[in-house]
Amino acid sequence: MNRKKATIYNVLFLVAAAAILIFLWMAPPETTKKVPFDQDHRPFYNMPKKEAEKQCTKCHSKEAGMPLPKDHPPKYRCLFCHKKTKSHS
Ligand code: HEC
Ligand code: HEC
Repeated sequence: MNRKKATIYNVLFLVAAAAILIFLWMAPPETTKKVPFDQDHRPFYNMPKKEAEKQCTKCHSKEAGMPLPKDHPPKYRCLFCHKKTKSHS
């Protein structure tokens, strides 16, 4: 009896964990704009993400004339949220 209960709880736990993981994994790409594959952004497609992210604010900043939206979330890792349009590396 106890053992059966434990199994049920284990299964429930796994299902819940999987649901959360899938949710986290699915959510950002669905809603967040992707990095365009155009002249401005193409150079970043062949660059390690961390390297590329250092250069986004050269254009995307208040100083450069293209401020991020006012309600923009914390912007530490651009490419973690804004995926590349094509999956080069
Ligand atoms: C040379 C200037 C420049 C750099 C550097 C740059 N961008 Fe952009 N970005 C633009 C311009 C101009 C637009 C608006 C026109 C367009 O959609 O291409 C834009 C638009 C965007 C958009 C919105 C696309 C849409 O669908 O509305 C995202 C997201 C973005 N950039 C992300 C990034 C990220 C991430 C980086 C760093 C890897 C980056 N940009 C670096 C110039 C730049
Ligand atoms: C935590 C996730 C996250 C990070 C990190 C992030 N962004 Fe965003 N960004 C968003 C969301 C959400 C929006 C709201 C509009 C949308 O769906 O793209 C947005 C909007 C934008 C827009 C405006 C797109 C448009 O046309 O409305 C640009 C440009 C942009 N981000 C660039 C950047 C740059 C450059 C960085 C790194 C310095 C960055 N973002 C980091 C989530 C993120």
